[in-house]
Amino acid sequence: MELDLRTAMRHFATGVGVVSTWAPEPGVRGGRRHDAITVNSLIPVSYDPPLVALSLRHGSAFLADLLEARRWGVSILAADGADTARLLARSRESRTEALRTLSAVPGRHTGALLFDGPGWLECALTDSFTVGDHLMVIGTVLATGVRPPQDPLVFLHGSLTPATTP
Ligand SMILES: Cc1cc2nc3c(=O)[nH]c(=O)nc-3n(C[C@H](O)[C@H](O)[C@H](O)COP(=O)(O)O)c2cc1C
Repeated sequence: MELDLRTAMRHFATGVGVVSTWAPEPGVRGGRRHDAITVNSLIPVSYDPPLVALSLRHGSAFLADLLEARRWGVSILAADGADTARLLARSRESRTEALRTLSAVPGRHTGALLFDGPGWLECALTDSFTVGDHLMVIGTVLATGVRPPQDPLVFLHGSLTPATTP
C-alpha cells in the first residue's frame, strides 16, 4: 500500500490559529519586529501544569524568532478569520505587510501579538524536540483569555472553511 500521509490527513478536520512572536529590532517602533503565522498543529498536552504543543517546520524564519524570544502568543480564529489565516500563511515579507493592517494587540505577559477571535493564550518555551522535518515546541501557558463564542474556522480537505455551530 502506498503511503500518502498528506492525502489521508486532508480528511482530519482541525481548528485554525495564529501563532505570534517577535525579534528585537532597534529603530522600529516599540523596538520589536513582530511576526505571526497560521497554524493547525496546536495541541493542548497537559492541564496541570498547563502545556501546549506546536509543530513548526525546521528552517522556518518564524521558528528561529520564536526560539530566540522564547515567548509566543496563540489566537484561535473564528469563521470570519479565513482572510487573516490566508495572509499569515504567506512569506515573511507579505506577513509583515499584513501586520500593518490586521487588528492585534501585544499580550501583557509576552509582548506577542494577540488577534481577534474567541480565545487566546500566551506561552513561554519550556521544551522542544525534533520530530522528523518539524520541531515540536512545548510551551507553558502563562495566560489565557476568552471572548464571546463565535462560529469556528476549520481546516478540512485543504481548505479554510467557516463552520456553523448549533
Ligand atoms: C491552515 C494552515 C495551517 C498551517 N499550520 C502550520 C503548522 O502547524 N506548522 C507550520 O510550521 N506551518 C504551518 N503552516 C504554514 C505557515 O502558516 C507558514 O506558511 C510557514 O510556517 C512560513 O514559514 P516561514 O516562517 O519560513 O516564512 C500552515 C498553513 C496553513 C494555511
